[in-house]
Amino acid sequence: MFSQETIQAIHARVQIEDVIGDFVTLKRRGQTLWACCPFHHEKTPSFAVSPDKGFYKCFGCDASGDAISFIRAIEGVSFVEAVKHLANKYGIPIEESTESYVDSMQHEKDSLYILMKLAQSYYTTNLWEHTTGKSIALPYLEERGISQASIQQFEIGYSLNAWQSFYEYAKQQGYGDDLLLKAGLINQSETKRSDRFRHRIIFPIHNLAGKVIALAGRVIETSDKQAKYINSPETPIYHKSDVLYGIYQAKKQIKKINTCLLVEGYTDVIALHQAGIDYAVASAGTALTDNQIQLISRFAKKISILFDNDAAGIKASLRGIDKVLEHGLYVKIILLPTGEDPDSYVRKVGREAFQSYIATHEQDFINFKAKLLLQDVEDDLLQKTTVIEEILQSIVRIPDEIHRSLLLQQTSKLLEISEVALLAEHNKLLAKYNQDQRRTYQRSKPSAPLQLTVKDGVVKQLDIADTIMAHERDNIRLLLNYGNTLLQDGKPLSMYLLQELQDVTFQTPIYQEILTLYQDYITQGQEVDIKRFIQHSNQEIQKTVIDLTATPYEVSDNWQEKYQIDITQETDNLHQTAYKNILRLKLRLIHQLIEENNQRLKNNEDPEEEDRLLYVYTQLKQTEVEIAKQLGIVLF
Ligand code: CTP
Ligand code: MN
Repeated sequence: MFSQETIQAIHARVQIEDVIGDFVTLKRRGQTLWACCPFHHEKTPSFAVSPDKGFYKCFGCDASGDAISFIRAIEGVSFVEAVKHLANKYGIPIEESTESYVDSMQHEKDSLYILMKLAQSYYTTNLWEHTTGKSIALPYLEERGISQASIQQFEIGYSLNAWQSFYEYAKQQGYGDDLLLKAGLINQSETKRSDRFRHRIIFPIHNLAGKVIALAGRVIETSDKQAKYINSPETPIYHKSDVLYGIYQAKKQIKKINTCLLVEGYTDVIALHQAGIDYAVASAGTALTDNQIQLISRFAKKISILFDNDAAGIKASLRGIDKVLEHGLYVKIILLPTGEDPDSYVRKVGREAFQSYIATHEQDFINFKAKLLLQDVEDDLLQKTTVIEEILQSIVRIPDEIHRSLLLQQTSKLLEISEVALLAEHNKLLAKYNQDQRRTYQRSKPSAPLQLTVKDGVVKQLDIADTIMAHERDNIRLLLNYGNTLLQDGKPLSMYLLQELQDVTFQTPIYQEILTLYQDYITQGQEVDIKRFIQHSNQEIQKTVIDLTATPYEVSDNWQEKYQIDITQETDNLHQTAYKNILRLKLRLIHQLIEENNQRLKNNEDPEEEDRLLYVYTQLKQTEVEIAKQLGIVLF
């Protein structure tokens, strides 16, 4: 579908740290950028990105690849869609093929993304161009104070007051009923199929990359009969519990100020952004989920939660906030004046007053919770003990020890209880909490099978074939990592290695493939850039090369000087390292040949053949001794 030139243009332009930076906050350590892995749950970073080599690799879950694979994995799209995503991000023109989108769809998620985009455009056009859009929907939004710029930024739309208007339109565009049903854009009743959204304001829900993944429709004329909002159902591209409304529009600012402002509704987010408070997102009416918290923690350390001043509602959400603490986030609570929600209040007072309200009314969560619970206690000792326990239950969830100890100090003052007593109780609860955590962890962890090689009923520690594979691997590793490094004789290491390996065919197909590919590049007279392997279309090559070139540890440059420690690195004498590596591989190959030869000798009955086999044996043995001597190994 794309020409080689397009793919190359994309590879040339793409900065992998940029692409991944849209989804997680990366921190630099040496040559490598690190983050908590977006593909699995973790609290300390093991997800590495190498800007030089253009790859990412997680040392926890083993996910790896280049920028294109990253987009494929995180968005669950095909190669074609991932390339389009990157082309779009960098403004690289791509040749569209003449076939229609619908024909070219192979991937279900691809088609859902395309269909959701179609639906959003359709509803947006209705809003601006259809008579009802212009006469009812636009004035409604205007009356609510939503500006045209906000309508455009949030891609707000309008669905006509008709049973099948989108359905008809989508069918004309070639979309089938199955996909429309799967996307939740049409409903199936016993007798007919009809649009899910009718006569509603449409708020599209975007993912981190800005793609529309779901729609929410709000009624225009409030009536008791209809739900205020109708939302898209769960689909392969929309999981309600993983999404925060507004995250795409807010993520840049959230990252910048390291803070996320959490509100409840779609219209709250829009009103806040419009007022310039552009780090607001909404949980869309449900309690925060672990995945949503995880999402926030990829970009910010602090989360400020805006609550309407309604006591029952707040008490109900206290438990949920404990979960946020577990993720190591700092939680602040802001109570709005009675009768206001973020939307109404920001429209009333404007940006500056709103921001200063936040600044002056923001309370630490633990403090807030303590005060709230204490309100109902009065002088009842038993009740007070329960409150203390309740507060400590929150504190023990905080991973940071210093943060915990500061909170204990504060709490001791607030609750008028000695710090010593508080600390003792805290330690008890903490031990219990940690124990429970360990139990859950162990339960969820699958037990690893024992790695033993069994041959003919005998357990062998090291199989020759495995050893050979390991040595092949190590030779490829040297080639990839240091191939272009010049040796004392002024020639690159690759030339030396390839010459020495000329008479060897690797037994592990993938290593042989990489070796041949490397040889081909050299023969074509090209400088071998490791990126060519990392961006290779063969995923096994890609993964293997990343595994062999990614190092989890980096020795800082001044380490040796600073600590006067001699770290003998393989690079200090590459020639020697390579030489020994090759010899080790050859030694194992000889062992294999000897074993094969012995096997033949055992089964042989022909005397002439026996002479020949014995001769081969002595030759092999001699070579073995020779190599071993050079390696400094004593043979028995
Ligand atoms: N919500 C929903 N379905 C409903 C009601 C509410 O999904 N039937 C979710 C929506 O995400 C909504 C949020 O809960 O944005 C908060 O609800 P509410 O405060 O009632 O709505 P607002 O967003 O404030 O809408 P409006 O200001 O237009 O009344
Ligand atoms: Mn509202």
